[in-house]
Amino acid sequence: MLTQAENDFLTRTGPGTPMGDLLRRYWVPILGADELPHPDCPPVRVGVMSEKLLAFRDTQGRIGLIDEFCAHRGVSLWLGANAGSGIRCPYHGWKYDVTGQCTDLPSEPALCAKIKLTAYPCIEKGGVIWTYMGPPELRPPEPAFEWAEVPASRRFISRREQECNFLQAMEGGIDSVHVSFLHSGDLKSDPLHVSRGAQFTASTETRFEVVETDGGMVIGVRRPAEEGQLYWRITQWVMPFHTMIPPYGDNALNGHAWVPVDDHTVMTWCFTHHPTRDLTGAELETMRNGGGIHVKLIPGTHRPAVNRGNDYMIDRAAQSGGRSLSGVSGISMQDAAVQESQGAIQDRTREHLVSTDRAIILARRRMRRAAEAVAAGKAPDGIGPAAQRVRAASVLLPEDEPFFEAASEALVARDGVAHASV
Ligand code: FES
Ligand SMILES: [Fe+2]
Repeated sequence: MLTQAENDFLTRTGPGTPMGDLLRRYWVPILGADELPHPDCPPVRVGVMSEKLLAFRDTQGRIGLIDEFCAHRGVSLWLGANAGSGIRCPYHGWKYDVTGQCTDLPSEPALCAKIKLTAYPCIEKGGVIWTYMGPPELRPPEPAFEWAEVPASRRFISRREQECNFLQAMEGGIDSVHVSFLHSGDLKSDPLHVSRGAQFTASTETRFEVVETDGGMVIGVRRPAEEGQLYWRITQWVMPFHTMIPPYGDNALNGHAWVPVDDHTVMTWCFTHHPTRDLTGAELETMRNGGGIHVKLIPGTHRPAVNRGNDYMIDRAAQSGGRSLSGVSGISMQDAAVQESQGAIQDRTREHLVSTDRAIILARRRMRRAAEAVAAGKAPDGIGPAAQRVRAASVLLPEDEPFFEAASEALVARDGVAHASV
């Protein structure tokens, strides 16, 4: 349980908030690279941490991320024309380049040099456009997650908007126990989850162990397996909002980034990659159709087709027939439904945490400490590549082996070596 002040501290990420200042010290995924496919293509509106921005690719192919609204009288530059190395406001013709600098002010050219919009640097890596919104002199090294470094043929990425605060969504990503309940039906049927390990996941006899690392946390959850062995599902949480899901069999690895759009909306990024092989046509087809951790979207939007507005198309017969605990179809939408139902920002003054919530308690503490450190002028955790080049794993271990030591190799991304998965 948190006090209201503690809950506010952890969940508010707008400019000038302690948590917002912390998150702004990392590279943040904002768009798929294919959403700005060519020079002078249409601009795209981007909401990040309560800032309304506009992304565009200029005539030279450079990516700009600037304040969405014209410095003159606040018209959305999304309406503007992207041509000739900048975007021109359709109201009175002021024009801006990728640095936010006004480059043409037809009625008063002398004023032009003094007008500059907020702008953030962007890079392209792993099929994603990332931005850095922190102090320019403290810009971190480029993101080094394994999914971003494998060839494009080995990964599939999607993103969806979720109607709740980022923290409760991220807490779902490190809550390994809910799998046995919320997703129990899908572990038997989703082609990208079926595996030998999935059978053990049905057990609710779980024990949690959490190990803090330099860049985040490793969460081991054990369940009984065959004679003398335990089945460990090992989740990675990497500062500040990345989670990696323990894999199933030879299926690809899955992970998320939970990026605040504003305090009541999170962009849930879903990353699937295989370290050593191309994804198959069947896998890609399944994911494009909302299988695995991906969802079907309303075309032209990032809003899922199954959503709060249609009561998640809940199937009461599937619930009463014991086929699904939630009655919601699809693993990611089951997560979204329960997390959105917690409220725009979950009221953590009323919760009752238990031992299986240990990872959540520690992650909150860690986020708080990191935000306080940044406020005191120190460097945040998990900035370098070592913190990011990690993997989730699922392994069988003898009963008496400590999981973190026994699985240490499996928890690091190694070129040319497949992930450890049962
Ligand atoms: S509002 Fe943009 S040029 Fe006037
Ligand atoms: Fe889930």
